[in-house]
Amino acid sequence: MKKTFYILLSFFTLASCSNANSEENKKEKFIDSLLSKMTLEEKAGQMNQYNGFWDATGPMPEGDYQKKRYKELKNGQVGSMLNVIGVDQIRALQKIAVEETRLGIPLIFGHDVIHGYKTMFPIPLAESSSWDLELMEKSARIAATEASADGLHWTFAPMVDISRDARWGRVMEGAGEDPYLGSKIAVARINGFQGQDLKDSLTIAACAKHFAAYGFAESGKDYNTVDIGLQTLHNIVLPSFKASAKANVATFMNSFNEINGIPATGSKFLQRSILKEKWNYKGFIVSDWSSIEEMVAHGYSKDLKSAALSAIKAGSDMDMMSYAYIKYLNNLLDEKKISIDIIDDAVKRILSVKYDLGLFSNPYLYCNDVREEENIFNDRNRALALDIAQESIVLLKNDANILPLKKSGLKIALLGGLAIDKDSPLGNWRAKAPKNSAISVKEGLIKYNNNTVKFQKGPKLFKNPTFIDGHLNVNNTDTSGTYSALKLAKESDYVITVLGEHGLQSGEGRSRSNIKLPGIQEHFLKEIYKVNKNIVLIIMNGRPLDLSWADAHIPAIVESWHLGTMSGNALASILYGDCNPSGKLPMSFPRSIGQVPIYYNHKNTGRPGPSDYVFWSHYSDEKNDPLYPFGFGLSYTNFEYSNLELSKADERTINVKFKVKNIGNHSGKEVVQLYVRDLYSSQTRPVKELKRFRKVQFQIDEEKIFNFVLKKNDLGFLNDSGNLVFEKGEYEIFVGGSSKTNISSF
Ligand code: BGC
Repeated sequence: MKKTFYILLSFFTLASCSNANSEENKKEKFIDSLLSKMTLEEKAGQMNQYNGFWDATGPMPEGDYQKKRYKELKNGQVGSMLNVIGVDQIRALQKIAVEETRLGIPLIFGHDVIHGYKTMFPIPLAESSSWDLELMEKSARIAATEASADGLHWTFAPMVDISRDARWGRVMEGAGEDPYLGSKIAVARINGFQGQDLKDSLTIAACAKHFAAYGFAESGKDYNTVDIGLQTLHNIVLPSFKASAKANVATFMNSFNEINGIPATGSKFLQRSILKEKWNYKGFIVSDWSSIEEMVAHGYSKDLKSAALSAIKAGSDMDMMSYAYIKYLNNLLDEKKISIDIIDDAVKRILSVKYDLGLFSNPYLYCNDVREEENIFNDRNRALALDIAQESIVLLKNDANILPLKKSGLKIALLGGLAIDKDSPLGNWRAKAPKNSAISVKEGLIKYNNNTVKFQKGPKLFKNPTFIDGHLNVNNTDTSGTYSALKLAKESDYVITVLGEHGLQSGEGRSRSNIKLPGIQEHFLKEIYKVNKNIVLIIMNGRPLDLSWADAHIPAIVESWHLGTMSGNALASILYGDCNPSGKLPMSFPRSIGQVPIYYNHKNTGRPGPSDYVFWSHYSDEKNDPLYPFGFGLSYTNFEYSNLELSKADERTINVKFKVKNIGNHSGKEVVQLYVRDLYSSQTRPVKELKRFRKVQFQIDEEKIFNFVLKKNDLGFLNDSGNLVFEKGEYEIFVGGSSKTNISSF
């Protein structure tokens, strides 16, 4: 019986393998045949991506710049477009590509669908605080559904850059500081966007970006130089990219920064040697916006032509907005600086993704009127946005269990302009979210408690809150509005004050050298504290902030990030205890800016201290540890970890068993975390490395046994060639509810 089953199983495996092979052969034949018909201009065209440049449903474009691009589009010299929004525009442009170009190759339309399309989910850093991979996959799927219903094929997400620097504005777009958590989240998001089959009209192609090390910009300044060693590159920066490649992400995007003297866009080492050769990646690489051209400013390329040469040789397949390939591939080939093979390889990769999306069978496959007319901003999507917003909130402080608040009988003062802001919670990459479409904190609270919540704005936080591309003007001096706010605070039992960053204060180009509450806010908070100490501080932000003063004085602090469409409802349900907070920080919060970059998985150094003498690795004016560590977040209940036992299955496998019990008075979720320390090794290892986690619901008094198995990969490290090294040695295993845990096997 067993044997028959085995034979049947192998038959099915063989059958499905041969189906897959024949589908692959069919695709290869199709692409080879198409390629054989293409002129060099058409090939360069496939490698050329333009930003949307005119209303495609209106008359022909005016002006030389527009006309030239329009002509190129009709000549088959454009392979992809970005930032073209809506089915009408996409259909009109696709029609030109399909009906008016010689070979009718469809365009692939990309857009930054980063944390939602119409329904906004928490910004990626916030979502990462949920540590809930299933929910993150679902939110990416909904974003894909809404984006594809609007005609789009491709998102420039997920951003899988690891970063340790809260000054860098783009930390909002990533998964924080840890390569293990970052890799898991990268895969969940890719699976969410892409699903099982790119042809499925509810999925879109994803893009792992920015390859590589963009998150290690010196001094946290966007686009700045990156200079890191191979250890950090292989063990910290690259794992999330490798996991993305393994998860078959359709595309990669390279990066603006130079790394160790070579712009990433021109780095053969990264793109060819590592990604395409070592990892055998078959998708295509798109440049970042004009990053090919920027190699001239980097001082790497003499001019645009030599930048084109470096980029193509390095393995950048598609040129986003540098006009480099369209202008120079022809000459470079004539001058024999490149071979046709290198171009063919890039074009094949691009055509292959178009094929996988099903665009050759139906170029209009996402331009479906019925779907467009469906109400996609619907209840189901909003329900998931609420779920994930709730899971993303991190309770940072809750002295004397001030939270949850009683639902009745309390006079509550709600203070701060962000409490009525319906736009900031939408976050930085709001795609097509209607303006002001988030539920504000005030709206959320009032549903619970209309009579006893009173609002005062306090001083203005920002002078030009409707800005998009320019600089935000922060109010540093104007205190008007403070008096009425303080009067209300004085008359109330509790004050809920909402402070933090504007929704567009983090993100690309939004680095900060000061990560305190912006402008007048801390002063305002101190004034409130003078009249009423029962303060619940809600922080809205896109990066870790310096909350040291607040932590020393304010009894309850709730980290809400920019939570998306359902922001206010999610926060209200947490404040009133209908939902128990369960988020954990994916990035350390420094005590002050001088500690940055700060991260839990640092090395021990030769002088770890502490010592009574000055000669150990420390500051004379600041503690070493962060204010809130990676993995940290409180709950309304408490969890007890015990009975940690290790057993060795073999020389390379450790079984880790322990018990967790809910010992508090609420049911709730805990993110159970396991860290490893390799005590000595031929390459020094971090003091802790996250290796497993699980988010689990516990009823009151419930206890659960956890069994984690650690294998060679979890115990080893990557050497300077990126190869796994596993050495016999001693490992300390930690378990607990944050990276600060000292419950260990020793
Ligand atoms: C960003 C990318 C983004 C691209 C297209 C660039 O400025 O760095 O992450 O995908 O623009 O909008």
